[in-house]
Amino acid sequence: MLDFAIHVAVQAGELLLGHFEKLGKSDVSFKGKRNLVTVADRESEELIVRRIREEYPDHSILAEEGGGDEKQSPYQWIVDPLDGTINYTHGHPFFCISIALVRDGEVVLGVIHAPLLRETYHVQLGKGAYLGERRLSVSDTDTLINSLLATGFAYVREETQSNNLANFGRLSLEARGVRRYGSAAIDLAYVAAGRLDGFWELYLAPWDVAAGSLLITEAGGKVTDISGGTDYIYGQNIIASNGKIHDLIADNLDPFSKSDRTESQGD
Ligand code: IPD
Ligand code: CA
Ligand code: CA
Repeated sequence: MLDFAIHVAVQAGELLLGHFEKLGKSDVSFKGKRNLVTVADRESEELIVRRIREEYPDHSILAEEGGGDEKQSPYQWIVDPLDGTINYTHGHPFFCISIALVRDGEVVLGVIHAPLLRETYHVQLGKGAYLGERRLSVSDTDTLINSLLATGFAYVREETQSNNLANFGRLSLEARGVRRYGSAAIDLAYVAAGRLDGFWELYLAPWDVAAGSLLITEAGGKVTDISGGTDYIYGQNIIASNGKIHDLIADNLDPFSKSDRTESQGD
């Protein structure tokens, strides 16, 4: 299954590269005023979903652009066909495909492929996290002032109570730096690789975090929701870190109220 997922992600990556910097106005439409979807998102999803259906016809598929289907199966594939659509649309290299497999409610496999960065991350539950052949470990930084963090902001940030700006302000003053790369899956992969010491974000979706969160736990890090619980895949809020600075990040975040959830996603 892992080889299959890697193969499909690489195929989708080639498709994304084919459209990169070639999108016309009619290739981009709007799910919200900042929330874009391009012909590349749709074609990538079509390819991935078609390949999963061919190979595993009984499995459920949850895919961002709605092309998946619910089945009575212990297996569910979770697919972000293009994470970092705004970057992609503006010609920035930080975008990827994220594919995860859930078995009986637990993520057991993940692949994050960033074609322009030429990086393919993969992970299986209990078998470690890898960037290509290299086994990954999180960093061992234990203070915020020595930490490089990342976050992001919801597409609908002016409409939500938790717009993340106060969190961003506090942690910018505490940490060495806070990056905003524009691809949550790459942010998570970077925590697994030790390039970032921590990451947090609000209003993410399962397809943004499913593969990346397993990469981090298999690389020795820690992933929780903002209140320290385990509802980070479907709960729309996440803290991911090397473990050592986890509580230091949490201490600087406003509580995230479930009543403040939104169906819209971030950017
Ligand atoms: C977005 C990216 C971004 C994050 C957003 C996500 P998309 O995914 O991961 O970094 O801030 O919240 O929605 O829309 O490019 O697939
Ligand atoms: Ca995404
Ligand atoms: Ca996407």
